[in-house]
Amino acid sequence: MIHFPRKVLADELVAALRGQTVFGDAQNGLFLAAPRRTGKSTFLQADLQPALEAAGAVVVYVDLWADPRRDPGALIADAVARVLAPRLGVVSRAARAAGVDSVTIAGALKIDVSKIGRIDGVTLADALRALHGVAKAPVALIVDEAQHALTSEAGEATMASLKSARDQLNRPGQVNLMLVMSGSDRDKLLRLVNTNGAPFYGSQITRMPPLGPDFIDHVAQLVVSQRPGLAPVDTHSLMQSFESFGHRPQFFMEALGQALSPLSGLQGVRFEQAVLDAAHRRQRDDEAQMASEYLALRPLERAVLWRLLEQGPRFRPYDAEALHFYREKAASKFTVQQAQRALESLRQRTPALVWKSARGEYAVDDAAMHRWFEQSTQAGKWPPEDPQGELLLPGDESAA
Ligand SMILES: Nc1ncnc2c1ncn2[C@@H]1O[C@H](COP(=O)(O)OP(=O)(O)OP(=O)(O)O)[C@@H](O)[C@H]1O
Ligand SMILES: [Mg+2]
Repeated sequence: MIHFPRKVLADELVAALRGQTVFGDAQNGLFLAAPRRTGKSTFLQADLQPALEAAGAVVVYVDLWADPRRDPGALIADAVARVLAPRLGVVSRAARAAGVDSVTIAGALKIDVSKIGRIDGVTLADALRALHGVAKAPVALIVDEAQHALTSEAGEATMASLKSARDQLNRPGQVNLMLVMSGSDRDKLLRLVNTNGAPFYGSQITRMPPLGPDFIDHVAQLVVSQRPGLAPVDTHSLMQSFESFGHRPQFFMEALGQALSPLSGLQGVRFEQAVLDAAHRRQRDDEAQMASEYLALRPLERAVLWRLLEQGPRFRPYDAEALHFYREKAASKFTVQQAQRALESLRQRTPALVWKSARGEYAVDDAAMHRWFEQSTQAGKWPPEDPQGELLLPGDESAA
């Protein structure tokens, strides 16, 4: 599997994290959201981490999905300890040689030499300060799938202590603790920043840009280097396929591999066309999946989702027009409370169908749904039809 390096983006983010850009607020924490399978973890580990290290930072990376049953606070503490322990080794050996049982780091923190490597008794903020003191360098903590921290009280407390560590360690013009949080669930990530009581109140969620034309050019060059006979490659068509694959490199590369395989059996068909066909097949499968999810909803939930798809950013869930719309589409009268419950249940599903912003704006969770809605509407195929007929009576919201 090839890795396409994203150095320019990594360097830009490093500068922002170090507070070197005039505008922006990344020195208070960088919150990155991007849909699933679009390359977040790869970027954080293969591009951002080396770029931070090249800029002189010590990097701690932790994926809160690595072990979803473990307390996020403990996972972060372990990751810090793993980076801290070998550095403390030198300090602690010196301490043992000198016959003392504890060492003082950075002039403040006392660490029991026998317990080095374990963080118990040491708060996360202290451990980060110790790491900064020992390494004599800024510390960058990258928390992948950070929204998981909000699933437990301990996790929430961890986020609060990270915020406090940031405020203790950083001064204007001097960033000693850089925080990067990423997640595929923008709605949940928002909870870290959106309310007065949220740990990182005031920060913004940035959409991590997907891989783009430069990735496609890179792939095209690889194709030509291995199969010169295929030049010139139609990069426009490949870019179109990549978009249809939802900017997910894995699916795209798999289709490309199949199209280029000597066993593909393609005769007289360019490989670009075969990849595009695969992308369209994948899109159709994804759309069939969306239709079946839509049809599994209760009538009011369907009507709310329909309204949201139709109105986009103008969506107001409870105004008179919306209630009228629900009544018309689901053939029954609904109260605001019922609409609220329906909207909430669309948000709470796994995977969620709806997300909500800090300011109470709603959107569909998966942007692919908009394309599906628009294309179906244009083709006169909206709403999707239930092959088994209506199972619920219109207005049967009693179970909602
Ligand atoms: N820069 C890249 N060049 C080539 N392939 C990539 C690149 N980035 C990601 N990929 C591929 O895309 C797939 C998904 O990448 P990754 O796991 O980083 O995404 P993710 O957004 O973290 O996914 P998830 O939502 O599952 O956590 C992997 O197969 C990976 O190898
Ligand atoms: Mg990931």
